[in-house]
Amino acid sequence: MRAEIYNKKKKKKVVMKMVLAELEQKLQHCDSCPLGTTRKHMVFGKGSLSATIMFIGEGPGADEDAQGIPFVGRAGQLLDKIVAAAELPWDDIYVCNVVKCRPPGNRLPLPNEVEACKPFLREQVRVIHPKIIVCLGALATQVLVSPNARITRDRGQWVTKGSFRIMPTFHPAALLRDESKKRPVWEDMQQVRDEYRRIKGLLPKQTWPPPEEE
Ligand code: URA
Repeated sequence: MRAEIYNKKKKKKVVMKMVLAELEQKLQHCDSCPLGTTRKHMVFGKGSLSATIMFIGEGPGADEDAQGIPFVGRAGQLLDKIVAAAELPWDDIYVCNVVKCRPPGNRLPLPNEVEACKPFLREQVRVIHPKIIVCLGALATQVLVSPNARITRDRGQWVTKGSFRIMPTFHPAALLRDESKKRPVWEDMQQVRDEYRRIKGLLPKQTWPPPEEE
């Protein structure tokens, strides 16, 4: 029975890998929006395909565009530090962006670019099916939570959508511009760490106050 479950899980992982590898391959030639004409590399995602936590940023910057890997520039290095400080394991994390190609001059992706890329993000979320999604910045929060979301107001508050627990927080690039955002991000990441530990059974379930009697 155990072997059967193990084999089923293994098979599922292989299928997931194939689905995402196919999509990644297809997007190498994507011309769904004008960003396809200016990119050097399409930037799909990195990390574990069975990740419990998914970080979603805005879109690739110059370094990511040059290497074809998300979050490898200064904001990415800061994200690495944040993940390490929160003691989250990289082998249980997946990182990607709302748009897969660099908006020229690091401008915000335009609505038509976001719309064109949404199905690909949706597919990544569907296949990886993380338990926790961390939205890095306003754009990811507006796409994943609500178009009316405001990052300064909504960060630090869990949103539950289906089986997903979503935590909006500031983008690491915003921290590089404004040090005062470090503390709130640290608080948000502590919540993420606690939720992660709860999911993994590493924190005791809340026993006090006891659940209200009917
Ligand atoms: N900023 C993002 O939103 N994504 C990256 O991959 C890099 C910087």
